[in-house]
Amino acid sequence: MKANIGIADNHAQAVAEKLNKLLADEFVLYAKTRNYHWNVEGPNFMEMHKFYEGMYEELDEVIDSVAERIRKIGHYSEGRLKDFIKLTNLEEGEYTNDQNTQLKNLLDDHETIARYLRTDITTFAEQYKDLGSSDFVTGLLQKHEQWAWFIRSYIKK
Ligand SMILES: [Fe+2]
Repeated sequence: MKANIGIADNHAQAVAEKLNKLLADEFVLYAKTRNYHWNVEGPNFMEMHKFYEGMYEELDEVIDSVAERIRKIGHYSEGRLKDFIKLTNLEEGEYTNDQNTQLKNLLDDHETIARYLRTDITTFAEQYKDLGSSDFVTGLLQKHEQWAWFIRSYIKK
């Protein structure tokens, strides 16, 4: 049944497309973070193992909330790995067990997502008149800014 919540059809469609791209980015980042959780090595193994675990657990909730936001504005969410790979702005990258390389890769991804989200906040509100989605992605931006700060604080120059 069609959603009648005061967003024009073409606007809801445009927001859903951007949210599906975001969903793909969050999914790729989730998989990468889990990979690092499994394969990290070093004298502070347990610290990093748990740090990554906290991150992918939060990303798991973020993924769910993005997909469900797409449903709330009357569209279907992507849900196949091959679609996520096609849509994502992020690179999967090569395997690495090196903590500093892992952290730099994750920082780059969180910051990339933050930059897209910052643009989406304004686009959703001003261009597509979808203040609910604009508010929703504002909360996500703050989560990515926080993770970026945490990661940045671990990185050796
Ligand atoms: Fe685990």
